[in-house]
Amino acid sequence: MSSTAPEAKFTEETVLWVKQHTPKLMSFAITRPKTYRFSAGQFSRLGFRDGEGFIWRAYSIVSAEYADTLEYFVILVENGAMSKLLAQMQAGQTILLDKTAFGFLLPERFTDGEDLVMLSTGSGIAPFLSMLQQPTLWERFTHIGLVHSVSYAKELVFQEYITGLSQHPLLAERITKLKWQPVVTREIVEGALSQRVPALIQNGHLATGLQLEFSPQHTRFMLCGNPTMVADTFKTLLSMGYTMHRNKLPGHIVMENGF
Ligand SMILES: Cc1cc2nc3c(=O)[nH]c(=O)nc-3n(C[C@H](O)[C@H](O)[C@H](O)COP(=O)(O)OP(=O)(O)OC[C@H]3O[C@@H](n4cnc5c(N)ncnc54)[C@H](O)[C@@H]3O)c2cc1C
Ligand SMILES: NC(=O)c1ccc[n+]([C@@H]2O[C@H](COP(=O)([O-])OP(=O)(O)OC[C@H]3O[C@@H](n4cnc5c(N)ncnc54)[C@H](OP(=O)(O)O)[C@@H]3O)[C@@H](O)[C@H]2O)c1
Repeated sequence: MSSTAPEAKFTEETVLWVKQHTPKLMSFAITRPKTYRFSAGQFSRLGFRDGEGFIWRAYSIVSAEYADTLEYFVILVENGAMSKLLAQMQAGQTILLDKTAFGFLLPERFTDGEDLVMLSTGSGIAPFLSMLQQPTLWERFTHIGLVHSVSYAKELVFQEYITGLSQHPLLAERITKLKWQPVVTREIVEGALSQRVPALIQNGHLATGLQLEFSPQHTRFMLCGNPTMVADTFKTLLSMGYTMHRNKLPGHIVMENGF
């Protein structure tokens, strides 16, 4: 149930469920006010009352634009102030939601190109899970590559969700467009690549794994996750002739630091 003082910049929402995947990875959903609008790829600001003040942090929305509730995927970091509160959170509890959704990690910003490659580490997969539920994305691109890099296999918590997209009533017919490549950097795992994303782009193993040919003409990249991954990948792509996309100067890369 949403409630709010009209002048407030936030609404008070209810936590609907919490799912702990591993001790440090969790998903949860909250009520969505009818007035809350967002585009797939954007993030919410979530908060709690904290003593006499508030604590606010950014969280990418996992849900589809048309969903009735808002889902998030969170990595609990050691000694993090918000992580401590989220680790104790239970269904039924109140959570604060900034009325505005933020961010420019939006696939519709690309007006040309044929294949979309989504590169993520850790919780950076969240905005891509939202985008994948938008039928317009599947109409727009010939192929959609999804890459998720984690340190350990147990952190690949969305494998089932991704393979389950073939049962999604709006996507089933187009699911062959999806190319999924997990990356596990600190363990050898069958079916997963084991180097970091920039190295995998440079040596061609990522393109091979996705069964796609990367080229400035055809490929558009979206990056989200660890800021050092975003910076290193951006540098690698620049060295290969790709450029940052700007609305007034179309290019090949859009990106967002996941923390
Ligand atoms: C645009 C944006 C979107 C975000 N979306 C998400 C999301 O969908 N899910 C999510 O879990 N977090 C997300 N974050 C990070 C989130 O806002 C918080 O920073 C995080 O939950 C930790 O908060 P904290 O107060 O516990 O620790 P903080 O004091 O804020 O962070 C402590 C340190 O933990 C590390 N860290 C923070 N977040 C992460 C993370 N997600 N993965 C790995 N290391 C991290 C960083 O090194 C940081 O300096 C996002 C951040 C931004 C800027
Ligand atoms: N103390 C530690 O040893 C340790 C280990 C892991 C995480 N943590 C902390 O735990 C929290 C969450 O960690 P997380 O593992 O979920 O997220 P993360 O550290 O961002 O790692 C997620 C994935 O991103 C990769 N990555 C990191 N930097 C990269 C770069 N510059 N270029 C390409 N790929 C890169 C990681 O590879 P790599 O596995 O090669 O790093 C891993 O595959 C963070 O606060 C993190 O600092 C600490």
